Amino acid sequence: MTDPLRLGIAGLGTVGTGVVKIVQQHGDLLATRAGRPITITAVSARSRTKNRDVDLSGYDWEDDPVALAKRADVDVFVELMGGESGPAKSATEAAIAAGKDVVSANKALLAIHGQSLAEAAEAKGCAIRFEAAVAGGIPVIKSLTEGLAGNEISRVIGVMNGSCNYILTRMEDAGLSYEEVFEEANQLGYLEADPELDVGGIDAGHKLALLSAIAFGTQVDFPNVELEGIGSVTIEDIKRAADMGFKIKLLGVAQMTGRGLEQRMSPCLVPDHSPLGQLEGGTNMVVLEGDAINQIVLRGPGAGEGPTASAVMGDVMDLARGTRGPVFGQPAVSLRKARAARAAVPAPYYLRMELLDKPGALAKVAAVLGDAGISIDRMRQYDHAETAAPVLIVTHKTTRAALDEAIAGFDDTRVVASAPVAIRIEAV
Ligand code: NAP
Ligand code: HSE
Repeated sequence: MTDPLRLGIAGLGTVGTGVVKIVQQHGDLLATRAGRPITITAVSARSRTKNRDVDLSGYDWEDDPVALAKRADVDVFVELMGGESGPAKSATEAAIAAGKDVVSANKALLAIHGQSLAEAAEAKGCAIRFEAAVAGGIPVIKSLTEGLAGNEISRVIGVMNGSCNYILTRMEDAGLSYEEVFEEANQLGYLEADPELDVGGIDAGHKLALLSAIAFGTQVDFPNVELEGIGSVTIEDIKRAADMGFKIKLLGVAQMTGRGLEQRMSPCLVPDHSPLGQLEGGTNMVVLEGDAINQIVLRGPGAGEGPTASAVMGDVMDLARGTRGPVFGQPAVSLRKARAARAAVPAPYYLRMELLDKPGALAKVAAVLGDAGISIDRMRQYDHAETAAPVLIVTHKTTRAALDEAIAGFDDTRVVASAPVAIRIEAV
């Protein structure tokens, strides 16, 4: 056996204690597989006295994560505190400056500072690995950087936030409103301390930005991810979409178009029989499309102690074996600045509106759509007791800009009784 790989772990919450448990429980297995022992030198968290349900007595304690990151007897700094700035950033920078490799689960930090951290790390000959930051236990980064390295990637698409998928599937199964299920999810502890990170699509947007960088060789560009959360998804839309053969998912889509890099994290309709449509509860799914592979579908737990610690340990094991490689799959200095393209790729849309039930109303709406160059694929009008009838239209492919033009034009018809709801239908 050669020298052990010595970890310094900052953050002993859900993920950090999970990592400690794996190192303790699978010590022999890890050593055999890596060809060297994996040990923990020191740990750090806010509270030294907190009961963490794991034996930390064999490790040094550091109050300051920066001091931990710089220790001479630490080979790999494992950052599991979270947050896009503060000690996560300063300790990661300190580790790199001290020539340490870094393993992180911190999507917020990397989505905002990934480029500068990657350049700094690669200039020092250090690695930053972050499998756990995207889709928890699913080895999606390894799939892109290793298994699919021979492909030109055309599209990355997926459900990358388990809490939102739980909320949307629970709304559908129980027929409950968004507000009711949000409250339930919060009580169950499924949501981040700041729930807006989940339901606002920000957490999933961070993950998509990281995958885009690897897939398309571009600098991480989170500010240009078009973000729309699930707060406006109604039970009515979930039911109507189901009626037309669709599910509503918070879907991340990244694709390189002729006009630039399109990155969207927003509620979308997907066919209910598709793998994404059938994804239930807190599970994640990432679909990767490349010229040689066509398509692969990765599905698994996107969060939680075991799955996330599993991904952290996958990175640790790579470093123990000497498997390194650039942070984003190619040298950071070679990553191009992406030109952002906003919703450039045409798609069919689901359009729901309340239409005054009087002669010619439907014709007027159809005319406005036609004037905007939008063709109707399917249409359905529902029973109604009121003067306004719920109407659903599924369009053929169109651009968001054309759709917005048509929606603005509905005002002049004086037959559309409430603000129309428009949701993109993604082909998967
Ligand atoms: P957590 O349970 O809230 O734990 C955070 C840990 O960091 C705690 O031990 C906390 O110390 C410590 N910490 C926070 N601020 C600190 C500071 N200023 N100085 C020192 N220690 C500090 O978080 P988590 O769920 O394990 O998540 C950790 C990271 O993994 C985050 O980046 C998160 O986004 C990412 N991640 C989590 C999951 C998941 O399922 N939980 C999945 C994927 C990725 P105390 O315990 O003393 O308060
Ligand atoms: N809040 C995240 C989710 C945790 O629900 O998927 C994992 O990143």
